[in-house]
Amino acid sequence: MERTQKGEIMVNKAEITSATWGVRSSFNSLVALLVASVIVAVLSLARDGSQLRPLPPNDGASLQGATGAATSCDLFSGRWVYDNESYPLYEEKRCAFMSDQVACGKFGRKDLKYRHWRWQPHGCDIPRFNATRLLERLRNRRMIYVGDSLNRGQWVSMICLVESSIPPYLKWISYHHNHSLIAFNAMEYNATIEFYWAPMLVESNSDHPYNHHLPERIIRVQAIEKHAKVWSDADILVFNSYLWWLRPEMKVLWGSFGSPGGIYKMVPVPRAYEMALNTWSDWLEVHINKTKAQVFFVSMSPTHDRAEDWGGVDGHNCYQEMEPIIREGYSGSGSKPELMRVVETVIYRLRTRGLGVQILNITQLSEYRKDAHPSIYKRQWHPLSQEQLANPTSYSDCFHWCLPGVSDVWNELLYAYIL
Ligand SMILES: *[C@@H]1O[C@H](CO)[C@@H](O)[C@H](O)[C@H]1NC(C)=O
Ligand SMILES: *[C@@H]1O[C@H](CO)[C@@H](O)[C@H](O)[C@H]1NC(C)=O
Ligand SMILES: *[C@@H]1O[C@H](CO)[C@@H](O)[C@H](O)[C@H]1NC(C)=O
Ligand SMILES: *[C@@H]1O[C@H](CO)[C@@H](O)[C@H](O)[C@H]1NC(C)=O
Ligand SMILES: *[C@@H]1O[C@H](CO)[C@@H](O)[C@H](O)[C@H]1NC(C)=O
Ligand SMILES: *[C@@H]1O[C@H](CO)[C@@H](O)[C@H](O)[C@H]1NC(C)=O
Repeated sequence: MERTQKGEIMVNKAEITSATWGVRSSFNSLVALLVASVIVAVLSLARDGSQLRPLPPNDGASLQGATGAATSCDLFSGRWVYDNESYPLYEEKRCAFMSDQVACGKFGRKDLKYRHWRWQPHGCDIPRFNATRLLERLRNRRMIYVGDSLNRGQWVSMICLVESSIPPYLKWISYHHNHSLIAFNAMEYNATIEFYWAPMLVESNSDHPYNHHLPERIIRVQAIEKHAKVWSDADILVFNSYLWWLRPEMKVLWGSFGSPGGIYKMVPVPRAYEMALNTWSDWLEVHINKTKAQVFFVSMSPTHDRAEDWGGVDGHNCYQEMEPIIREGYSGSGSKPELMRVVETVIYRLRTRGLGVQILNITQLSEYRKDAHPSIYKRQWHPLSQEQLANPTSYSDCFHWCLPGVSDVWNELLYAYIL
């Protein structure tokens, strides 16, 4: 748990500024962009940049589970199948917006099997991801991921899934709200796919996009407006919040940061989590136009910090794991079912009040993937000590996910629901 928290706060300024937002540097001039776009607009009209890979044999099969019309197939219940023909869906090096936090190949990972797994639901297939179709759906729309670094990883994955079908001069990244908001812009479609940093969803002292390395974590459990106003007009909203709650208690503030008269109280986490999600769901109930917007909540992303959980060596973690866990229904100590129950309850209540939020239940499928975390293969934001270097397990990141990899599958599932 300590490692988890440390890892999370390693997300600092260096990451964002050094991340390979390559397009930004070559296209930081709006003028250049506009000129270029005029020149190429005609070409792009004729372009068919749809397919990333050939169709797998069973594309287009039924997806009743996702349509909501029938629930004969649970997309989240299935198994991983080794498939090096159709996966990965893109190449790590080719993605212009890859992040150093998840670029495992770039940082030296040599066993690349983790890239080649397909999620196979029992009883149906996931529809083939078609970037053009998604971008058509997003035309004149805003899609936004709101949450923590896991959600940002999923956002990077989504950008990588779609960006190869857009020529360089028609796509770029922009920053807003003091860098809490990062937007991928697909000009041809007037579509944006954004990420907004709000790790606890409600206001907290960890809201700064880079400097959230604080000894004590405090949430303003009733306050969400500062964040929510940024995403109030989005058409597709994808939320998550889990990792930052992995502690027994949370300091809760009623009142404002820095102003006198605030009341602070330590609250056990399941309850503090519920309070925060209630604030979130109340906001949605009032502000979301349900004929226009689609709302998703990504369930907890499991960590793999204890090899004992899957019968591995005591004291080890995901470091040097190269195969998924096979045992159906496996669940380790890195996921907290009581927090999942809170999410389900809050979302169920919201549904009874008229707003449906779809849970992307990625927990179980990700549980199997002890092989798919960066471990030591990511940018290290702080120099490592001799002691750490001598013991790679001690600084392995077993909670983010390498790309291409597991987060791509989360997005394939999201895609199934969006379309
Ligand atoms: C896929 O894996 C199989 C067996 O591991 C191997 O024989 C085959 O060459 C691989 N195909 C590709 C396209 O890498
Ligand atoms: C992808 O979607 C586009 C737009 O809907 C369509 O024209 C194209 O045929 C699709 N590609 C495949 C391989 O299905
Ligand atoms: C572009 O998309 C935004 C939503 O992101 C929308 O408000 C705006 O009207 C669109 N512009 C045009 C010209 O359709
Ligand atoms: C950015 O930060 C400054 C200084 O902290 C603040 O005054 C301003 O309101 C912030 N802007 C946005 C859009 O959040
Ligand atoms: C909700 O969105 C629909 C479709 O965009 C629009 O027609 C309707 O006026 C909106 N309702 C409200 C209350 O804004
Ligand atoms: C998510 O999946 C797990 C395991 O399949 C299940 O126990 C849980 O109830 C599911 N949650 C939701 C909200 O569907």
